[in-house]
Amino acid sequence: MPALVCHMAGLVDGIDVASAGELKVALDAGADAQEISFAGPAKRRVELQQAVAAGILINIESFREVAELASICDDTGDVARLAVRVNPDFELKSSGMKMGGGAKQFGVDAEQVPELLAEIGRSGMAFEGFHLFAGSQNLKPEAIVEAQGKSYELALRLAQSAPSAVRFLNLGGGFGIPYFPGEQPLDLAPIAANLAGIAERARRELPEAELVIELGRYLVGEAGIYVARIVDRKLSRGQTFLVSDGGLHHHLSASGNFGQVIRKNYPVAIGNRMLPAERETVSVVGPLCTPLDLLADRMELAVARAGDLVVIFQSGAYGFTASPQAFLGHPPCTELLV
Ligand SMILES: Cc1ncc(COP(=O)(O)O)c(C=O)c1O
Repeated sequence: MPALVCHMAGLVDGIDVASAGELKVALDAGADAQEISFAGPAKRRVELQQAVAAGILINIESFREVAELASICDDTGDVARLAVRVNPDFELKSSGMKMGGGAKQFGVDAEQVPELLAEIGRSGMAFEGFHLFAGSQNLKPEAIVEAQGKSYELALRLAQSAPSAVRFLNLGGGFGIPYFPGEQPLDLAPIAANLAGIAERARRELPEAELVIELGRYLVGEAGIYVARIVDRKLSRGQTFLVSDGGLHHHLSASGNFGQVIRKNYPVAIGNRMLPAERETVSVVGPLCTPLDLLADRMELAVARAGDLVVIFQSGAYGFTASPQAFLGHPPCTELLV
């Protein structure tokens, strides 16, 4: 969402992009190219060319990318800026999604990294450091603390094989937000204390390194609400359905189809009936031809009728852009920054 990226660009120290499309949005938003990094397992040559031309940091995820970048630099005379995305030899415990540890398509396995570093050294490109992203949506501070500690130790070990000093060390993120009943906001105090300790060590052990944490939904997820209008109200064999003009084509993650193993309801309300009112148990569904198009499953909500507004909270991340908007040709939703 370009308007949001513009707003955020002035508030954060850097932006990580996942495609040339996102790179364009970040540059258009006025983000400093020096502070943009690019991660993702399928960077095409044309995307790498754009990244080199823009002067951003490229998080290397394979041996192919090093060779491709060396050839681009041969053609243009540019010097690419590289960090190595490491697939660590540990996992982020209790995280909603794991992007590191075990066999993964992301990054380069830690045990292969020394060989990759040697190749970067021979290429003459500018090595800047390491990127480790173990996983996301974690609400357990002790798991994040453990992952950050292990990531730092691993980077310190790998730094011994680096062609030059480590100037950039991205320890990942994974900071979760509460979506479901019983979940509590993440307690940042132990994470901050741990990071202070790591920063203190890094001043001695990696004195040139800038430490980075990479936050996604933690910054914007709670700021977003999704609103759909109820089109119909139906009773089917004892169960009431509110049928809305929005659904999984706008908000795949609220429907549970973006990686939830057991589907749970996001926080939902009838937005124009927030004052205490009569309540009932209903399901909120969308217009698509699949029972997966479910925004709330047998949830207690204020009694609503056609024309009322269903509101889904915690929708500022993995909503619009993570959803199959073209499915069945219904209108896309409108994004507004208020
Ligand atoms: C490399 C990387 N960085 C950041 C994120 C953002 O994760 P989150 O929004 O959970 O903070 C992801 C999520 O997939 C990722 O893969």
